[in-house]
Parts: sequence; structure tokens; C-alpha cells
Amino acid sequence: MLTFAHPATYNEMASQPATSQVLKSEQTSEPEMLSSNRAGDRRAPRPRVRKGPHVLIEKLAATFPMKRGCPLELPQEYARLRQESPVARVRLAFDGSEVWIVTGYREACAVLEDPRFSSDGVRAGFPRPMTMKPPPPGTFIRMDPPDHTRLRIAIAAEFKPNRIENLRASIQRTVDKLLDEITALTPPVDLVDKFALPLPAMVVCDLLGVPYADRDFFHERIRVIGLQSASRSRHGEVREELEAHLFALAAIKEKEPEDDLLSRLIARHRQVGDITREEAVGIATLLLIAGYETLANMIALGTVVLLENPDRLEELRRGPAKLAGAIEELLRYQTVIMFGLRRAATADVEIGGTLIRAGEGVIVLLDAANRDEAEFSDGDRFNMCREANHHLAFGHGIHACIGQPLARLELEIAWATLLRRIPTLQLAVPLAEIPFRNETFVYGVHKLPVKWQETHGYAGTRNRGSTRENEVADRSSSV
Ligand code: HEM
Repeated sequence: MLTFAHPATYNEMASQPATSQVLKSEQTSEPEMLSSNRAGDRRAPRPRVRKGPHVLIEKLAATFPMKRGCPLELPQEYARLRQESPVARVRLAFDGSEVWIVTGYREACAVLEDPRFSSDGVRAGFPRPMTMKPPPPGTFIRMDPPDHTRLRIAIAAEFKPNRIENLRASIQRTVDKLLDEITALTPPVDLVDKFALPLPAMVVCDLLGVPYADRDFFHERIRVIGLQSASRSRHGEVREELEAHLFALAAIKEKEPEDDLLSRLIARHRQVGDITREEAVGIATLLLIAGYETLANMIALGTVVLLENPDRLEELRRGPAKLAGAIEELLRYQTVIMFGLRRAATADVEIGGTLIRAGEGVIVLLDAANRDEAEFSDGDRFNMCREANHHLAFGHGIHACIGQPLARLELEIAWATLLRRIPTLQLAVPLAEIPFRNETFVYGVHKLPVKWQETHGYAGTRNRGSTRENEVADRSSSV
């Protein structure tokens, strides 16, 4: 999700320590009425009580971002804030400006559903580490209706679950190819470098119709965008290079259209005329970037959690029945969007009893909301059998991730095939030695060294191609 919050822009924020915790709220004996149209019977009453706006004893609840104690846990302050003040005023460490952070599930839904909160980064009060330029054409993640609606509609049909299901065979082939290469190596192997990063890059290139000869160019650039070590100016250069290349590719697709998303976007520009050529290329660039780092880190981080939970891993190996539940739980438990979704209030809005004024910035912490005990009992525990896993890992409201059916399919095929092909997979170093990404907008690991027992390392499917029988076996065999 680099276009809406570049990882590099948050580096300074993450390096600052949390400060005092001084917010108190006015207590009453009345249960609080919280605003959200997602409220349903399933919800346990939230144990806190409050009425009216918060009373700040000192001005701010904390400095954001706060640090994690343990790599698989969230900063401890989140639970306290969620309990006492799910909409809290904080100071941003990088520039000292003040914004609201939202840690409660219902409050998060309320903000993300409310059209009075804008995604436009140039709006007054939008939480930003630096002055934001208007988004490049087509970058609808940073736009409000009507432009957001017009541009999202241009690709909505491409991401319908039945259309995405058609990609199953080619994604399976890509996963098989990567695992063929991995199992030919001598462990330890870095699973980030050899699997988690190349898989989404290859899939999104397939989707857009990037020719094989250009793949290395695209992979290299998308990769730089995910690099914490690359400077801001390098990120900018790379984005321009990607766009220039996509423009050239779009010109070719205009003359010789193929069965791919970029050809269809250009055809839409020519025939329907509701998007410009620049917007068509901008949408393609957005997909390249948005669908890469999030997914790569989810694959890697989810694999860490599974390898750290051998009993759960064994259950998954015994049969695929629990895989769908495990995927949703991994998305909830390790929500990779670490520094939240940013919005600016365009009017005075009350959320959960707290008044947010027009022109104030809001950061919705999806990871904190996904651990809200009022929605997910024992929310800090990884539980693959959780029912009604209505997590917010893909956001919520009009900007909810358009790529989620593709993300779910890639996660399913990646983990099912990885665990089946390398049943003895394990971490090659203790958890404490794994370098976690603490400074980037998307949480995850920089490297994931894994090993396996080579004697019975993989289950006889190496170089087997991708026949229909194999695809069926991949879907139904034990993982
Ligand atoms: C595990 C993987 C992924 C996660 C956790 C994720 C998460 C998110 C989140 C939280 C949003 C909401 C942003 C906001 O409200 O400001 C979002 C939006 C978006 N995502 Fe994803 N995403 C993932 C994969 C993908 C993939 C595979 C694609 C496409 C190839 C994609 C494309 C997009 C786009 C285009 C938007 C903007 C939607 C809009 O503004 O209407 N994402 N994603």
C-alpha cells in the first residue's frame, strides 16, 4: 500500500519512543452507545462506560507510533487505549503534529464508513509526515467520490471472486515453479527472497499482461519500492520508471490488445472514454504497488506464525478443511498494515462519544481494532477455529481492498502448497533472530531463514508441471 503511505515516510515515526499515557475519560454508569451500522447481536457489550467527549487531563494520550514489546504482539498501549479511549488524541513522533488514533473495532468501522472522512492526502489536517502532492492520475486509493468511484468501477469486475478463480491454475504453476527452485537448494533458504516476494510480483505481472522479457525490470523496481534502505528520492525515481514503462506497454497493448487487465483498461479509455490514458496507466501502477508488499509480508509473517505453532501446523497438514479459517485468522492476528489508514475529517463528526472536528487528522489502527475483545474473544490468541471472523485486515467501507479475492487465493495456494511440498519446514534460526520490519508501513520480516529435512523434504511433485490432475490434487490433498 505504498501509494497511500510510503513506508519511508514513516521511518522517523517508528523510531520514536512512546511517551506518557495521560488520557482519562469521563465515567458514568450508563453503557456507552457507540456509532456503527455494523452493530449486531453477536457483539459482546464493551466493558467500558463513558458519556460525552473525553476529558483530557493532560493534552495527549501518547506519542504515535508506539513500540512493540514482542514481535508478534501489538504495542501494549493499544489495549489500554481501546479500553479507555478508543478514539484518542496523540502526537505524531515525526513532526509533533496532533491527530486522532482509533483503536476500537466499532469506532474504526464508523470512521471508514463515514463519507465525512476523506482519503485525499492534500486535505487540511490529513496526517502526513510531509506535504503530500496530489496523487498521480489513477491513484484512486487517495481520492474521494466521485473520482474514486469512477476509477474503482473501471477495474471492479476484474476482481470479482469468479474472475479471480480463473487465475488459480496459473498461480499454482507459479507457486510450483518457485518451490521447485527452493527445494533444489540446500537449506537454510530465505523464504522472503525466494518465495514471499517473487510470488505476488509474478502474479500481478501476469494479471496486467507484462511480457516475460520485461519481468525482471518490473520485479526489480517493485522490489525497490518495498526496500526500507532505499531513499525517498529513489522510491520516486522508481515509481516514475515504472509508470514510463507502463506507458510504453500501454501503447503496444493499444495496437495489439491481449487478454489482460492493461489491454482492457486501455480499451476502456478508447471505447468507453470514462478514464484517461494517464489514469489507465496510474491504475495499473497502483495495482503493481498495492498488491505486492502487503501480500509478500502477509505470506512471510503468516508462515512465521504457523511455524511457531506446531500443533496448528500439524492440523493444517492433516487436511485442508481448516485452511480457509487459518487464512482469515492470520489476516486478523497479524494485520500487516501497521501504521493505520489515514483520513481527514471534512466536518465535525462524533465517533464513539468523541468529537472529531473538521480539518483534524485520523489514523485508524486496523491491527488494534482486529484485537478488540468486544468483537474477538481472546483476541490476542491465534485461533484458527474462530467463528465469524469479520476482521478489518483489508480495510472497510468504500476503499476496502479491491484485491482481497486475489490476496486470499494467493495465500491459499501459497500455504497449501508450501506445507504439502515441504512438510518438515521449520525456522532455521530462533524467532528472536528474525529481523522484523519495525519501521515500515507494512509490517513483516526482512528475511525468513527456513530449513527442512532433505531426506523427505518434499512430496514428489517437483517439476511435475501443472496438469489439471495436479491442480485438483493441490486443492484437495492434505496440506
Ligand atoms: C494481504 C494482502 C493485502 C492487504 C492486507 C491489503 C490491505 C488493503 C487495505 C487495508 C486497503 C484499504 C486502504 C484504505 O482504506 O485507505 C486496501 C486497498 C486497496 N488494495 Fe489491498 N491489500 C492486500 C492485497 C492487495 C492486492 C493483491 C491488490 C491488487 C493486486 C490490492 C489492491 C488494492 C487497491 C487498488 C486498493 C484501493 C481500494 C480503494 O481505494 O478503493 N491489495 N488494501
